This record gives sequence, structure tokens and C-alpha cells, in this order.
Amino acid sequence: ASLVALSQAMPKTELHLHIEGTFEPEQMFAIAQRNQVALKYDTVDALKEAYQFTNLQDFLDLYYQGMSVLLHEADFYDLTMAYLEKVHSENVVHVEIFFDPQGHTERGIPFEVQITGIRRALEDAKQRWGMTYQLIMSFLRHLSEDSAFQTLEEAKPFLNWIDGVGLDSSEVGHPPEKFANVFAACRDLGLKITAHAGEEGPPEYVWQALDLIKVQRIDHGNRALEDDDLVAEIAKQQLTLTVCPLSNLKLCVVNDMTEHPIRTMLKLGLKATVNSDDPAYFGGYMNDNYQALIERTQISKQELYQLACNGIEGSWMSPTDKQKHL
Ligand code: ADE
Ligand code: ZN
Repeated sequence: ASLVALSQAMPKTELHLHIEGTFEPEQMFAIAQRNQVALKYDTVDALKEAYQFTNLQDFLDLYYQGMSVLLHEADFYDLTMAYLEKVHSENVVHVEIFFDPQGHTERGIPFEVQITGIRRALEDAKQRWGMTYQLIMSFLRHLSEDSAFQTLEEAKPFLNWIDGVGLDSSEVGHPPEKFANVFAACRDLGLKITAHAGEEGPPEYVWQALDLIKVQRIDHGNRALEDDDLVAEIAKQQLTLTVCPLSNLKLCVVNDMTEHPIRTMLKLGLKATVNSDDPAYFGGYMNDNYQALIERTQISKQELYQLACNGIEGSWMSPTDKQKHL
């Protein structure tokens, strides 16, 4: 079989996925209409044409605009279910989904509305297909640590629905150290910890994610490769990197897919995985990310298999679920 067919057939995990980044323009217009809110673009095509980014912030500006049409529990359900149906068709058997509570509470949408809708879709997918999941709330790093603490308070009634905490949004200028205290509080509550680091930010931010946030994995991590001691430390701690090839291309973290460092990561002994990040904005879901690597790099069958295995091993699923999927 071709490598593309093989990658499509492999059972896969998705460990780096922002649910608000799965908002397809067609669905965005449909929900905007039913909620009677206006979008800044007149048509689906006009919106899609705006999806040309030169950096992370270009994308984030549109991402926050897009999610602002989500008002009701049913909106969060429909968004999540559309994503789950899509990746179920791609043989994704386990998902770990980020949501950005502050992207919604800042607009007056209660935490409960968000999490209830997202979780109901995840539970339905589990019932229907045996798909397993973890739910991760992410703090927006362009906001204050106080705002993150406030969000943690709002999350407390739902802690048995929340598996972990992440850190996302504008990286440069917002180092992990800004959030050291709130992540300490999260760890005390028994939450698992991850953080975006080294997407645009320097190796120093990745060190801080390790030393101050005490992450159990790293989202992206590309720029860690600039620091040999850091690479050695990540390998020693066996930390999984949730790498996002098409995202890196769209946000100009890499200039061309042929230069993507994911194979270098594997050769250095790092536990890299393949993920889609914000597939509605970056031009592809899980299988598209594998296909881009296959078509644009010299990736081997063995490496593809390693990436998928790293996804199972690096996931936060329970040992019983791991048995089930292996
Ligand atoms: N929020 C959604 N996608 C993100 C990314 N790739 N980096 C930082 N914040 C994000
Ligand atoms: Zn991300």
C-alpha cells in the first residue's frame, strides 16, 4: 500500500487540537445566522480568502473573531460533534481537546455553557464509536495571571470533567513564568499540565515551561531544537512534543514543508507526534498533516509508525484505554 493509504488506515490520536480552531467557515456562517449575529465577512469565500497568515498573531485575530458567534450550549455541541465526525472518518481513535474558556467568558458566555456542550459531544462520540478523550482547558497567555486564576475558580465545579490545563495564544512577550503561580495551583488540584512553547518563542520559554510550569508535555516545541542542552533534557524527561506540520507552514514557523523538523526530532530521540492544531484555518485535519509530510519530506514507513505510536504513548488516556487501542 502507499504510505498515504497506510497513514490513513493507522489508528491515530490527536493531542493538540483547539476546538475553536475546527470552526469551518460554512458552519460559522450557519451558526452566525441562527444566532442572528453579524460576521465581518459577507461570504464564505471572502472569509476563506482572509486565511493568509504571516505569523501567529495574524491567525489569532481571526480565530477570536470566528469563535465570537458561539453563544449557546448547542453551538459548542455542534462545533465539537462536527470535528469528531470528521476525525472518526480518519481513524482517529482518541482525542485530547483544548478549549479556550476566556475566549468565551470575556464575551459573557458562561464557563458552564461551553463545557457542557463540548462534553456532551465527546460523550456521544464515546458511546457511538468508542472514541476516548481528554478535555484540556487552556489559559490565554495574552491575559493576566489573575484572569487565569479567575478561570480556574470558574472551572472548579467542573473539575471532574477537566483532565488537564494548557497555555496558548500570543507566545512572544508572554513567557511561561508569567503563569507560574496559577499552574502550581492547577498541579495541586491534580490536573495534568501542558503548554505551547517554542512555536514562536525562544528556547528560554521552553526551559521555563519545563522548570516553572513543570509541563508533562510540550505543544509545538520547534525552537527547542536551537538548544542542544534543552533537546537533551526533553529526551531525558521523555516529554512528548505535539507537533503540527500544516499549522507550522501556515503560520510561517517553517518556510516550506520540506524543511519541517519533525524527522530531525525523531532522530534526536524526541517523542514527536502529528496533530492538526486548528484544522479549519490551516488547511487540513489529521490525515492531511500526514499526507503533507509524506509528499514533501522523505519520511519512511517506520517513521510514520513511530509518530503514531508516540501519539498513543504520549496521550493521557487511561491504561485501560491504552490497552483497548493498542
Ligand atoms: N490558539 C489556537 N491555536 C494556537 C496556536 N497554534 N498557538 C498558540 N495559540 C493558539
Ligand atoms: Zn495550538
